[in-house]
Amino acid sequence: MVGENNQVRENVQENAERGNAQSHGANVGLVGDKITIRGGRPLVGRIEVKGAKNLVTKAMVAALLGETPSILRDVPNISDVRIVRGLLEAHGVKVTEGDEPGSLQLDPVDVESAHYADIDAHAGSSRIPILFCGPLLHRLGEAFIPDLGGCRIGDRPIDYHLEVLRKFGAVVEKQESGIRMSAPNGLKGTKVELPYPSVGATEQVLLTAVRAEGITELKNAAIEPEIMDLINILQKMGAIITVDTDRVIRIEGVDSLQGYQHRALFDRNEAASWAAAALATDGDIFVGGAKQAEMLTFLNVFRKVGGAFDIHDDGIRFYHPGGDLKPVIIETDVHPGFMTDWQQPLVIALTHAHGVSIVHETVYEQRFGFVDALVEMGATIQIHRECLGGHPCRFGQRNFNHSAVIAGPTKLVGADIEVPDLRGGFSHLIAALTAEGTSTVSNVGIISRGYENFITKLRLLGADFDLEG
Ligand code: EPZ
Repeated sequence: MVGENNQVRENVQENAERGNAQSHGANVGLVGDKITIRGGRPLVGRIEVKGAKNLVTKAMVAALLGETPSILRDVPNISDVRIVRGLLEAHGVKVTEGDEPGSLQLDPVDVESAHYADIDAHAGSSRIPILFCGPLLHRLGEAFIPDLGGCRIGDRPIDYHLEVLRKFGAVVEKQESGIRMSAPNGLKGTKVELPYPSVGATEQVLLTAVRAEGITELKNAAIEPEIMDLINILQKMGAIITVDTDRVIRIEGVDSLQGYQHRALFDRNEAASWAAAALATDGDIFVGGAKQAEMLTFLNVFRKVGGAFDIHDDGIRFYHPGGDLKPVIIETDVHPGFMTDWQQPLVIALTHAHGVSIVHETVYEQRFGFVDALVEMGATIQIHRECLGGHPCRFGQRNFNHSAVIAGPTKLVGADIEVPDLRGGFSHLIAALTAEGTSTVSNVGIISRGYENFITKLRLLGADFDLEG
């Protein structure tokens, strides 16, 4: 597949994410946008994680494909879920509370085209709208997608998505305020080979191919557990999907799909974040709902750094067992590699490790924006353009600052810092929790995009802080 020359870029204004931060937080009950944290207390106790943000939001979109209502369980109360809910409602999907707390019923029977203003209200807020394309083209023959949002951790183009949709037969028209699509001859199965195993583009293929005419073959697919769970959901709906070896997925299109009932896969990114917080604060956190299989790679690294964990049927206990933390070399990668979303929270523990650690980020070209604040707090971290500590990656020849060298141990001291993105934001919280003295962390509303009730959880775990604003 050939990448598009004029890549459609995320049209996020310099401060759009920041402007949105407070409303993200307000949506989930966070009044202010700042937290003052007095560091030095270990986080100890039990918290629960619900369904994965990166599955639940896509599962909600999948409900559009059904002819009957779906029920999704373990949906976290995070602002990304509310954004997708708003977009579904704008398209006539009735979204109501389901049969137990944290479940949603999604009734797509009266799907209709949305009014421009209702879609535009969600412009710049999330990346999920691009996944509405296939389902809307099947249901309505047309789709309009607003400018996308999401964390500013790289360019994040959508060229793979658009190329995939065109291959299925969609006509794509870029407009000033978004992308308009139609499918005058319907959507037909096709052969796709992704240049990189993109999570979103793989989901795009799945959500489009299941109702396209004929067979679709996808090569170089992403195989993250969240994608496997989306495949579980689509199979429950009536889809025929085969996952072969070597990242090949085959989909036989069917004429119709029904609603599903599904309990979402747990959020392994949230679980890893709390694990990192336990280690960095010398704490002991039981993460209810976490499971071993999806965290295997994280657990290996956690142990190498000097963390300990006990696997239970109902969750995983993560703790600092005493002794010095050790440096590690990490290279982020697609599944089954070490996830890019795990590195930011873990970096704080690496500032405490005795020796030099290296983090080579190979998924996003700009995921070290959170590091400046840590250096201000006393960490010794240098960012390099070269591919350090592992294999050359696609960013190596392109002048991106994508390798971090962390020398420890250093003691962090309190500072006024500003959250740059979702995972970087959680990392800043951990930094402030471990620092000597008081820190003010602003722009914390962004954290509500992906961490349910994180303020309540911090309180439960004994953090010492005040909310401001
Ligand atoms: C998903 O992003 C997640 N987001 C990310 O989580 C996660 O970090 C990422 O997958 C990798 O696991 C959601 O699920 C909502 P990609 P996605 O397409 O799908 C390039 C978090 O904090 N690319 O796998 O957008 C892209 O620029 C977030 O929870 C293209 O070049 O990620 C990146 O370098 C952040 N063109 C690489 O592929 C395209 O059209 C991987 O991106 C699409 C992607």
